[in-house]
Amino acid sequence: MKNGFYTELLKFLGSVPLRFKIMGMVLFTAFLISTISIIQVYRTTENQTISYLEEISKSTANEMANLSEDYLLTNDIYKLDQIFQETVRLRPNLRYLFVVGKDGNIAASSFTDGFPEELLEVNRKVEKTKVAPIITDEGKILDAAAPVMHGELGIIHAGISFEKSRNSIDNLINSLIVTLLVIVGIGIVLSLFLTYVITEPIKGLLDATKAIGKGNYAIKPLKSANDEIGELILSFNDMAYRLTKSEKERSERENQRKILLKKIIDAQEEERKRVARDLHDKLAQTLASLMIEFKIIENSRTLNHANLIKKIKELREIITKELDSLRTLCSDLRPSVIDDLGFVAAVKLFRDEFVKRYRIDCNLKINGDIDSHLDKTVKIAVYRIIQEALINVARHSGADTVSIILGCKNSLLKGIIRDNGKGFDMLKKQDFTGIYGMRERAEMFNGKLSLHSETGKGTTVLFEIPLKSSDDRQPEIK
Ligand SMILES: Nc1ncnc2c1ncn2[C@@H]1O[C@H](COP(=O)(O)OP(=O)(O)OP(=O)(O)O)[C@@H](O)[C@H]1O
Ligand SMILES: [Mg+2]
Repeated sequence: MKNGFYTELLKFLGSVPLRFKIMGMVLFTAFLISTISIIQVYRTTENQTISYLEEISKSTANEMANLSEDYLLTNDIYKLDQIFQETVRLRPNLRYLFVVGKDGNIAASSFTDGFPEELLEVNRKVEKTKVAPIITDEGKILDAAAPVMHGELGIIHAGISFEKSRNSIDNLINSLIVTLLVIVGIGIVLSLFLTYVITEPIKGLLDATKAIGKGNYAIKPLKSANDEIGELILSFNDMAYRLTKSEKERSERENQRKILLKKIIDAQEEERKRVARDLHDKLAQTLASLMIEFKIIENSRTLNHANLIKKIKELREIITKELDSLRTLCSDLRPSVIDDLGFVAAVKLFRDEFVKRYRIDCNLKINGDIDSHLDKTVKIAVYRIIQEALINVARHSGADTVSIILGCKNSLLKGIIRDNGKGFDMLKKQDFTGIYGMRERAEMFNGKLSLHSETGKGTTVLFEIPLKSSDDRQPEIK
């Protein structure tokens, strides 16, 4: 039950906005301090005033005891009454003076219209000056009693009223309350300002966080002070900057991916058209002309054996040529040479054709038994990377030498393709679809690929791919 209340209270306090929490704390503290100080001041002042009045009442009683001795001895009661009345009139705090004789009766008193009998009960027996507080309908009175002539002539009572002093204390407390209210007012204004200074940046931070949460990254960096909240804002700005940057990179990659996909589809379409054209223009035409030739042979009545052999030889040559171009067409479509000869031999063959076709020197160095370490799909990807890099060298670099180094190290296949061409400014180029495709192929097998180029200093492609992919997925490569 108690625990439940405590949890509910914490829940409620937790749901109160921060600025109200700060304001509430300031107000509560100000109220507590003011109340405690007012009570403390009141009690201290009251105690000090009582002690002071006690001293006054004692000294008044002693003074009047000395003064009364002669009048009591001479029994000049009338005169003593007058002295008492005059003294009470002149001393503002002094409420009464009276002497109780040895017989217990009132010998003299400052009261003119009747003596309040209850006063006889106070400080009845005293041997030396003594003070007792009494509560009357006029308020609190300190009654000091002093023996006159060692009590032989009676006991004199001096009553000092506390009420007048209480008024002064009340006035003091009132002005203290007014002062504290003014201070609390100033405190509230200051705390409003402080609350604004503290909560405003947090509010900004909250708005910015919400905006980022909704995917709006175009937020301005927030201004920060030098305190802890400032540090929080600085790290938030840093985080927002990184998020924005990575979001930009992600959308750039996404765009590149789309461009690449379109290029792949276009290339496939082109490839199909080329294959269809090749089949139609070459193979179909050749087959049609072969059909005609065979028809001629079939219908010929004059063809002797020697001519027939000659004709068949010619036709065989045509078929052999067509078979060759059919094989080239197939090997262009897919590097079946990798299946037939193995990866290393396929790369060497491609290198040889590259050198022959483009007249660019190409050094190929292969360390380790790559063939037995790589999956078939990885081999095709690496083959395509080398193909793209070399075609780039031929198309863009103007190099006369390119070197390829491949090797296995620390469970990685590492490759370097470096040319001595004119290089290019990587910052200026935007559309890197071919390069992007190479990188994609490496990353598809948990590898990475980077390209370094500088105008006039050639271009280097570096890549590394784990020998056995940790990912079971083996993408089908074309
Ligand atoms: N070895 C290189 N030497 C000089 N410039 C190069 C080299 N490789 C790439 N580049 C530059 O980088 C650009 C991007 O290359 P990338 O392979 O991505 O595209 P591409 O070859 O122009 O077109 P494709 O998409 O057909 O490959 C090239 O246009 C070229 O300017
Ligand atoms: Mg290219």
